[in-house]
Amino acid sequence: MAIPPMFGPAFDADPYPAYDWLRRNAPVTRVPLPGCEAWLVTRYEDAAVALSHPALAKDPERGSPEWRAASLGLPLDHRPSLARHMINADQPDHPRLRRLVSAAFTPRRIAGLRERTQEVTDALLAAMAGKDEVDLITDLAYPLPIAIICDLLGVPEADRATFHHHASVIDSAAASAVEEITKATDALELFLADLVAGKRTHPGDDLLTELVRRPDITPDELTSTAFLLLIAGHETTVALIGNGLLALFRHPEQLAAVRADPDLLPDVIDEMLRYDGPVRNATWRFPIEPVVIGGQEILPGEPILISLLAANRDPDAFPDPDAFTPGRIGVPHLAFGRGPHYCIGAALAKIEGEVAIGSLLRRYPDLALATDPDQLTWWPSAIMRGLFSLPVRLNEPKA
Ligand code: HEM
Repeated sequence: MAIPPMFGPAFDADPYPAYDWLRRNAPVTRVPLPGCEAWLVTRYEDAAVALSHPALAKDPERGSPEWRAASLGLPLDHRPSLARHMINADQPDHPRLRRLVSAAFTPRRIAGLRERTQEVTDALLAAMAGKDEVDLITDLAYPLPIAIICDLLGVPEADRATFHHHASVIDSAAASAVEEITKATDALELFLADLVAGKRTHPGDDLLTELVRRPDITPDELTSTAFLLLIAGHETTVALIGNGLLALFRHPEQLAAVRADPDLLPDVIDEMLRYDGPVRNATWRFPIEPVVIGGQEILPGEPILISLLAANRDPDAFPDPDAFTPGRIGVPHLAFGRGPHYCIGAALAKIEGEVAIGSLLRRYPDLALATDPDQLTWWPSAIMRGLFSLPVRLNEPKA
């Protein structure tokens, strides 16, 4: 039996039938990707094991020569000033880097970010007023998380437009636009080095200032951590807001229920993350010794992708998995990963999703999709799942 195509616009539009086929017929299998082959894990139980497996390394240096030649990591992330961050790190560096960032992610700082998230959201929603149609990706989902990351990292107001420009080229340019992405990455590398240097001379009340004060983090690790927070905390949240709203538009009964009772919002956000989450596959992993996952032996260095989308629709873990059913009980979804690399920004991401989606539905109660959902286009990424645009009619209530 042939494996269904695993990339291209038709797959991106609806990957779930292919995942269903794989879960049933080839739950741990080799799939062709542009430039190399990788193992893909699709069942919930195997995914949960692989995400926390002590013999699966994250350091890209552990990847096979074929994988390294295919350049499938984060965009150009092999330079030390951008690559020495926790998601690429194993023992003993991973716990050290992770602890430094978690210590700076204090409840006080997160509470402050909720207020700020509300302020930024209100301004973005106000800017839509009077328009018939807006694009929720451009007008809400993109600008909100970047503003919050800038606050978290302490990017001065005057530099935010430049920062936003470089970040959005890296995030959303087609992977083939190598020259454009390289230019933006070069510029961002310099920008982050300046930002870190600035925190030493002009400390602020921000996460980067706290990291700069620590003796146990190198200059490359500092700039790499800032880069990781920017990338990990930006595109993912864009996709939570975009994919989540699309799921609601496709389920009018759930949309009506959460409009009538905003207390349902946390459950709705959680189901959005399970049903069509932002992260298609967890980041690359490489065995440091032969390992067996789901009965399949995988050799050292062979690249492994764990499909969070497939695992989150596994009928053995989630009854009626293709239904959008907020308030499920049972096993937790894997949209934020599991184990030592579990998302450090999960609490913040949920706050951003709740504030953005809750405020949007409150302010524009008759909001409606302005296009056929099957015509929407999806990012062609091996790691992420998100929409290029989400046009809606505001149907603003007349005063
Ligand atoms: C809905 C939004 C988000 C989703 C779905 C998400 C998802 C994930 C997933 C699946 C992982 C684990 C990857 C793996 O094991 O390969 C991860 C790790 C991480 N996330 Fe998130 N994330 C989101 C938002 C954020 C935000 C807002 C931040 C920071 C401000 C953030 C920072 C991180 C960091 C630093 C890691 C690496 C943790 C480690 O390696 O120990 N994420 N995220």
